[in-house]
Amino acid sequence: MTQHSADWWRDAVIYQVYPRSFADANGDGMGDLEGVRSRLPYLRELGVDAVWLSPFYASPQADAGYDVADYRAVDPMFGTVEHADALIRDAHELGLRVIVDVVPNHSSDRHEWFERAIKEGPGSALRDRYHFRTGRGESGELPPNDWESIFGGPAWTRTDNPDGSPGDWYLHLFAPEQPDFNWEHPAVADEFRSILRFWLDQGVDGFRVDVAHGLVKAAGLPDIGGSDQLKLLGNASMPFFDQDGVHLIYRSWRAILDEYPDDRIAVAEAWAPTPERLALYVRPDELHQAFNFPYLGTYWDAEALREVIDSSLAAMRPVGAPATWVLSNHDVTRHATRFANPAGLGTQLRTPGDRGLGLRRAHAATLLMLALPGSAYVYQGEELGLPDVTDLPDEARQDPSFFRAAGQDGFRDGCRVPIPWTRDGSSYGFGSGGSWLPQPPEWAGLSVEAQTGDPGSTLELYRGALALRREHPGLGAGESVEWRDAPEGVLHFVRGDGFVCTANTTGQPVTIPTPGRAILSSATVHYNEQGAELPADTTVWWQA
Ligand code: NOJ
Repeated sequence: MTQHSADWWRDAVIYQVYPRSFADANGDGMGDLEGVRSRLPYLRELGVDAVWLSPFYASPQADAGYDVADYRAVDPMFGTVEHADALIRDAHELGLRVIVDVVPNHSSDRHEWFERAIKEGPGSALRDRYHFRTGRGESGELPPNDWESIFGGPAWTRTDNPDGSPGDWYLHLFAPEQPDFNWEHPAVADEFRSILRFWLDQGVDGFRVDVAHGLVKAAGLPDIGGSDQLKLLGNASMPFFDQDGVHLIYRSWRAILDEYPDDRIAVAEAWAPTPERLALYVRPDELHQAFNFPYLGTYWDAEALREVIDSSLAAMRPVGAPATWVLSNHDVTRHATRFANPAGLGTQLRTPGDRGLGLRRAHAATLLMLALPGSAYVYQGEELGLPDVTDLPDEARQDPSFFRAAGQDGFRDGCRVPIPWTRDGSSYGFGSGGSWLPQPPEWAGLSVEAQTGDPGSTLELYRGALALRREHPGLGAGESVEWRDAPEGVLHFVRGDGFVCTANTTGQPVTIPTPGRAILSSATVHYNEQGAELPADTTVWWQA
């Protein structure tokens, strides 16, 4: 049964399931909810506290489910609402909490409101629930402003009037199939409050809020000016992101969450220009957590890591929210591949790099992350050390950003390849009917089956680390780390209960005075007269 501890989320380890790619129960090559349900015991045994499911709602899948046509229905590709209920029930029986995605910035262009807005033509009251505008230029042939879509190209698409003549334009910060809602309209706000209640009534423990920073747009939808808008994202103030008005929405959502028993939570996928702006989303009367994308974007480098750890903790302290830590998700190249490549290449890579190096660093980065105060997010497959699949054939790709940017960017399919469960069999145990993205043959050796019981495997490292984190609640608790002096390139800090963590991010072995008994390490520690020698790219947990 679920443990009803207050504030369970403050130090929770939350495992992201990408339903398309986790487990396929009905053999159609696409993961589904029954597949997830069948693997819940695996997650329990892995030792995570909660599962976050990416969208499984009714959707034409123009953006892998982040284009929702009906927020209260499960897409037949994933199952039914009854399957979702069964999944939530089973998870709770195993002591796992369940967080679901909510996608409030935009709907699918197949959502009933949008379809009617188009069909009814200019003057339809439903157009006010989205951002419809007449175009600029003599005959409205130019977009209403200069905003660019995050997936490339203009953020506006022109509609056809019911009589076939060119009509107004609508705003979509992402793909054209994802029209942005107008959150000034009360019906939009009401609808989402009702959607939250619908899923809370089904028993979910919380929500991951997609594009939480995007809901409110600056009045008048002003031009941005200049070029290369996408480079500004996340580090400059933009008229479509991080507007103060979003906070009113989250206050009303928090009131709903608080009406329900047992600490229901919400985590913001929010990009803000500074850590302080991000902290506003997690004030005590707003959301509970926000993803730490600056941490995800930090390379395996002690100085940079220390800086981002300190600034993340410092930003959260005044608002009393836990920091969060994340290395991978369904939108970025897996960290085993990022760390296999040189620094400075960003989070969308096409090169496999040095796999052995990437894996060693990934192991070390995991132990570092799990020793930090706050909540940690694990993306499915990272516990197997999966690399990104960097050589997917273009014809297999489904990511809309790949097509929008004419192949220049958008390599998110590489981290979405279905999970290998067994050494043999169709799609390595993912399902009986192949897999919607091709899996590399060497994934047989990375399967759950191949790694289980192998003490040197990534999977057993995760299991060991998560078990220790449960035994030592001091590991995820608190709001600061006590740094200790260490050689260059080494992070060395004390946590609660005499727990010490040392991470050698350099490519050389480093010797330090032995801080205690090594209870877990990502590579074998050797001892000599000077103390303990940590191999290159290694993290060690010690009990002082
Ligand atoms: C963020 C999601 O993580 C991503 O996968 C999606 O494409 C965009 N939001 C748009 O919903």
